[in-house]
Amino acid sequence: MKKTILITGAGTGIGKATAFELARKGHDVIATTETEEQSLDLKNEIKSANILMEVFKLDITNKTDRKKIENYNLDVLINNAGIGESGSLAEIDINKVRNNFEVNVFSTLEISQLALKKMLVRKQGTIIFISSLAGRITMPFLGPYCMTKFALSSGAETLRREIHRVRENVHISIIEPGGYHTGFNQKNIAKKYVWMNEQSVFYSIIDKIKIEEEKLFKFTESKTTTSIVQKIVKAAEAKKPKLRYSAPWWQAVGTQLLRIFGK
Ligand SMILES: NC(=O)c1ccc[n+]([C@@H]2O[C@H](COP(=O)([O-])OP(=O)(O)OC[C@H]3O[C@@H](n4cnc5c(N)ncnc54)[C@H](OP(=O)(O)O)[C@@H]3O)[C@@H](O)[C@H]2O)c1
Repeated sequence: MKKTILITGAGTGIGKATAFELARKGHDVIATTETEEQSLDLKNEIKSANILMEVFKLDITNKTDRKKIENYNLDVLINNAGIGESGSLAEIDINKVRNNFEVNVFSTLEISQLALKKMLVRKQGTIIFISSLAGRITMPFLGPYCMTKFALSSGAETLRREIHRVRENVHISIIEPGGYHTGFNQKNIAKKYVWMNEQSVFYSIIDKIKIEEEKLFKFTESKTTTSIVQKIVKAAEAKKPKLRYSAPWWQAVGTQLLRIFGK
C-alpha cells in the first residue's frame, strides 16, 4: 500500500538512501533536510535520477520548521536526523552534551509529538526512530552520542507501550544501525580533537585512541547502507512493525552477546 512518509535529515547518508528507496517503491516521500543548500542539492539529484519526491528544509531544532509537518497526514515519520559529539565525559563542555540531546532526543521527541497528534486522531501511523547499536552498548570517548541514543531508544520503547494501550494501529519502532561508512562516525570522532588538547588528562594517550578508533571503524563500517535501508523500509511498510530492527546482523548479534556476557 502506498504511504505518505516524511524523513528528517534526508540530505545525506542513510536518510537520503532510504528516501530514494521508498520513492522507488512508489511511496509519497517527503525528504527534509537541515539546510536550504542540502534541499537544493537533493532536488537536483532527484531530477537527474527521474524520481518523484517532495523536498524542503526542516531543521528539527527550529519550531517553525517543525510545524511544517502539520500540513500532512503522515502514515510514517522517520526520525533520522542526528549528530554526535565526542570526547571524555570527564572534560567535555556540558553545552556540547546539551546540544547533542537537543537534536537527537528533545527535538526528535517534539516533532514526533506533532506527528502523533494526528496519527492518534486518525487511529493509524508509524513513528520510526533511527537510534543506534550505540544505544545498547557504549563506546569510550563517544559518551555524549551514546547517551542520546540510549535515551532515544528507551523513550521510543516507553512510547510504544503507552500508545498501544489506546491505539492498536499506531506504532513506534526503533532502528539500530551498526557501523555504516557515511562519514558520520569520522565527523563525530574528530570533534573531540578540537578541544582535547594539552590540558586534557587524556592527551598522553591521544595517538593511541586515534589508532584504536581508526581500526574499530575500518573493521565495523559497512561500505553500503543497503542492509539498514532494507530494515527501515520493512518497518515503514509493515502493518504491525516490530519494536526493534537492527543491521548488520553480525553487529546486532555481537551487541546482544556483549550485553549478556559483559566485557
Ligand atoms: N553511520 C553510522 O554508522 C550510524 C550508526 C548508528 C546510527 N546512525 C544514525 O543514523 C542516522 C543517520 O546517520 P548517517 O550515518 O546517515 O549520517 P549523516 O549523513 O550525517 O546523516 C545525519 C543527517 O542529519 C542531519 N541533521 C543534523 N542535525 C539536524 C537538524 N537539526 N535538523 C535536521 N537534520 C539534521 C545532518 O545534516 P548535516 O549534514 O547538515 O549535519 C545529516 O544530513 C543518525 O541518526 C545516526 O545517529 C548512524
